[in-house]
Amino acid sequence: MTLSGKVAVVTGAAGGIGRATARLLAERGAAVVAADRNPSVAETAELIRQAGGRVEAVVADCASDDGAQRITDQAIAAFGRLDILHANAGVSGPLIPDLATDSKDFAEILRINLIGPWLAITTALPHMQAGASIVCTASAAGLRAGAGGIPYSASKAGVINMVQTVAAALTGRGIRINAVAPGLIETPMTAPLYDAARRRGRGDRIGQLNPLQRGGEADEVAEAVAFLASDAASYINGQVLVIDGGLSSSLPFAPRPAGQ
Ligand SMILES: NC(=O)c1ccc[n+]([C@@H]2O[C@H](COP(=O)([O-])OP(=O)(O)OC[C@H]3O[C@@H](n4cnc5c(N)ncnc54)[C@H](O)[C@@H]3O)[C@@H](O)[C@H]2O)c1
Repeated sequence: MTLSGKVAVVTGAAGGIGRATARLLAERGAAVVAADRNPSVAETAELIRQAGGRVEAVVADCASDDGAQRITDQAIAAFGRLDILHANAGVSGPLIPDLATDSKDFAEILRINLIGPWLAITTALPHMQAGASIVCTASAAGLRAGAGGIPYSASKAGVINMVQTVAAALTGRGIRINAVAPGLIETPMTAPLYDAARRRGRGDRIGQLNPLQRGGEADEVAEAVAFLASDAASYINGQVLVIDGGLSSSLPFAPRPAGQ
């Protein structure tokens, strides 16, 4: 699964899943452009440099035309090519479905979570050759209700369909596009939820609804992204890889305690 000689752009790389992916892609040999609107993306770049990787940090709004173009331009200026895109930046918005959601708030979540990956894809594609790979971060919330607010879930369902439709639009070009759909992963995005559970002494309840009975780690998503980005996944295209401990694989049921 070596990525040596490849150049990767990772958006939303200041922390969480994006930081974990940027570090892993660099560890596997890719030169990485780590992008985020949060200036602490520089810390991600520093971690990669300290580990001997090649990296450029870009502070930009990935969901603006100008920001998306700047990120792609930086990859070409710094490393001369673009082989891997992990379109990952996103926001959660309210976690509870709220029928009174304001249309402006709804539109902003769609802008970042859906138009953002679209701009990352469309600015990257002119520089990509056959063999290139795009991975978008969707969510288990994009598959079913129960894992996020209404705009968030709709945006992630949109990402999944966009991945399928773009795969079709790329027919004949040899460029693959897939999505990862994480379940509950401990990152800055979910920190309030983890913190609240731990404050109430219920940290051990986190992730209990999935058969692995635990929450996931950003590194576990990064491994899947690195696989899909690599030539090892050369015949996997237009798919959604769900990384949720098995949560979405089952209808709800009341599990028996072990041994009964
Ligand atoms: N943590 C989970 O449980 C979980 C589950 C499913 C999907 N996801 C998705 O994974 C992705 C990464 O989230 P995370 O959990 O690592 O949380 P995170 O908050 O650590 O990462 C999201 C990053 O995106 C950046 N970002 C947001 N809007 C941006 C914009 N307009 N321009 C540039 N950067 C922007 C943020 O600054 C942040 O660094 C998101 O798309 C999220 O929806 C997360």
